[in-house]
Amino acid sequence: MSIISKMRALITLGEGMSRGISELTVSDDPLSLFADWFESAKRAGLALPEAMTVATANANGLPSARMMLLKDFGSEGFVFYTNYESRKALDLQENPQAALVFHWPALQRQIRVEGRVERISTEESAAYFRTRPRGSCIGAWSSKQSSTLDSRAALEQRFRDYERRFDRGEIPLPPFWGGFRVIPDCVEFWQGRINRLHDRIRYTREGNHWRIERLYP
Ligand SMILES: Cc1cc2nc3c(=O)[nH]c(=O)nc-3n(C[C@H](O)[C@H](O)[C@H](O)COP(=O)(O)O)c2cc1C
Repeated sequence: MSIISKMRALITLGEGMSRGISELTVSDDPLSLFADWFESAKRAGLALPEAMTVATANANGLPSARMMLLKDFGSEGFVFYTNYESRKALDLQENPQAALVFHWPALQRQIRVEGRVERISTEESAAYFRTRPRGSCIGAWSSKQSSTLDSRAALEQRFRDYERRFDRGEIPLPPFWGGFRVIPDCVEFWQGRINRLHDRIRYTREGNHWRIERLYP
């Protein structure tokens, strides 16, 4: 990290800790506050600010959670990419609801998102897939994500087989791989403050607008 990025990170850190958030002045729209906070996390030079926990539950309500990378967000929601036959994807097929958690400890910030989940279009997944490094594309073809695997060697053999199959030209989108979008119904912003009197501001979707409330920490 250069001296300038280090100084920027320290300034952002200072801003995060000294400034609380108020239900009276926050943006009407949680996506715009999310964009501000995400920008601050990037400016602060945090490692993987786009890393988030994605929690799902199956039809019996059995929860499971894992880390994922946020690849896109906007007024429509939060997008991540994965294998459509993985455990999380099977959970989402049975129960299309998820919760996301972002945690940026250096800024004392946490964001929680809850909402309905849908698959994004094949065109959108294909457009993203084309931007991935070739090795990651072959990796996606090679992995039967979340299934049991006899040995590391078997996985590496599958990788070599797909490398041969796609030895030239564009690698197509695997039919079992793509994006999910979490369409938020609820987004909560947590800002650490002194004496554990943290700020918690929760947005809840109500038709075309968002209800904004402060919660006890
Ligand atoms: C920081 C981090 C980021 C990850 N990002 C992704 C991702 O974007 N997509 C993905 O399928 N798995 C990602 N993984 C792997 C998942 O955590 C998980 O192991 C995998 O998706 C299988 O989860 P499942 O069996 O619950 O479906 C990531 C792991 C880590 C530690």
